[in-house]
Amino acid sequence: MKIESVGIVGIGAYLPEKVLTNEDLEKMVDTSDEWIMTRTGIKERHLAREDEAASDLGAKAAEEALKSASMKAEELDLIVCATITPDMDFPSTSCLIQRKLNAANAVCFDVSAACTGYIYAITIAEQFLKNGFYKNALVIGTEKLSGITDWEDRNTCVLFGDGAGACILKPVENGGIISTYLGSDGNQADLLKIPAGGSRMPASLFTVKARLHFLKMEGSELFKHAVRLMADAAEKALSQAGLTCKDVTCLIPHQANIRILQAVAKKIGLPMERIYLNIEKYGNMSSASTAVALYEAVKYKRIKKGDILVLVAFGSGLTWGATVIEWTGEDS
Ligand code: ACO
Repeated sequence: MKIESVGIVGIGAYLPEKVLTNEDLEKMVDTSDEWIMTRTGIKERHLAREDEAASDLGAKAAEEALKSASMKAEELDLIVCATITPDMDFPSTSCLIQRKLNAANAVCFDVSAACTGYIYAITIAEQFLKNGFYKNALVIGTEKLSGITDWEDRNTCVLFGDGAGACILKPVENGGIISTYLGSDGNQADLLKIPAGGSRMPASLFTVKARLHFLKMEGSELFKHAVRLMADAAEKALSQAGLTCKDVTCLIPHQANIRILQAVAKKIGLPMERIYLNIEKYGNMSSASTAVALYEAVKYKRIKKGDILVLVAFGSGLTWGATVIEWTGEDS
C-alpha cells in the first residue's frame, strides 16, 4: 500500500548531566570565553560520563520519543540511528539501542552522514514507510563527540558537545514531511575527518601517539561551504514544496556556529527570530544537533500544528540537506 504522507508523531531528547563552560575551557587550553562567544556563539556544552556511550544517550532519547507517541518498543518496525560516534565499529549503535529498549521486532541499522545524519536518517525511514514496507520507525541522532575531541587542540575542542534526540515516524493523513533535498560532495572529504582507526590507517602505537584518532577540521574552509550549502538546501527543499521562506514559521538548523546561521539567514532572507537557536547551551552535537533543536522547538511551543518548519544541516562528507515539514503534532 502506497502511503501519501509520513509525519513525526513522537519526540524525545537526552542531554548528559555534566556541563563544561567556556570558563572551564580557559583552564584547559589557551582560549577565552570572549573568543568562543564572538566566534561561535557557544557558552557551554554537555559532556557524557566516561561510562556513557552514544547508545546510552540515544536509548534515553528514544524512550521519551516512544512515550510521547504512546507506543511500546516491541511495536517498532525499524530503528535508524545517525551517528559518527558509534559505541564501537560494529555491531551498529541502533542494534545496541534495540537491546536496551527491548525492541525485538525492529530492523536496525546506522547512518553515517555526520551533522546531516538526522535528516538523512529521517529521509531513509520515510521511504520505508511511504512504500508500505514498514508501518513505523524510530529515528535517532546520538553523539558522544567528547570521545573524538582532542582536548589539547583549541581550534576544535571548544566547539563540540554530547547529546541525543529521537523521533517516531508514522503515516499521517494531513501534513507531515512535504519535501526533502539532500546533497553530498566526497571531493571535500578531507576538510573534516578522523584520520586513523579505520581500514585506511588501523590503530597502532604511532597513530595514537600522533593523536590521529581525534577529529581534524579545516574550520574556515568549512565555514564558506556551510553557508552556501545550507542556504541552497533550504531554498531547494522549499521550492520543491512550492513554498518560500515567507511560509516558514521556524527554521531548525544544525548548530555549528552562530555566524554561519546569521549568514544563512541573510542569504535566504529569513529573520533571525524565525531560526531556532540553542548553540549557546550545547555547542555542535553533530547528528544530535538538529534532533535536539527540533525537540526543543516543539517542547517550548515555537511550532504548533499546521506550521511549516524546515530542518537544515551540513557536515563532514561533505553532506547537506533540508526537509520541509508541516507540523502534525505529536499525537496525530
Ligand atoms: N581560542 C582562541 N583563539 C583561537 C581558538 C580558540 N579556541 N581557536 C582558534 N583560534 C585562533 C586561531 O589560532 C587563529 O589565530 P591566528 O590568526 O593567530 O592563526 C584565529 O583564532 C582565527 O582562527 P580561524 O580558524 O580563522 O577562526 P574562524 O573565525 O574561522 O573560526 C571556527 C573558527 C569557529 C572553527 C569556524 O571556522 C567554524 O565554525 N567553521 C565551521 C565549522 C563547521 O561548520 N563544521 C562542520 C560541521 S561539524 C561536523 O560535521 C561534525
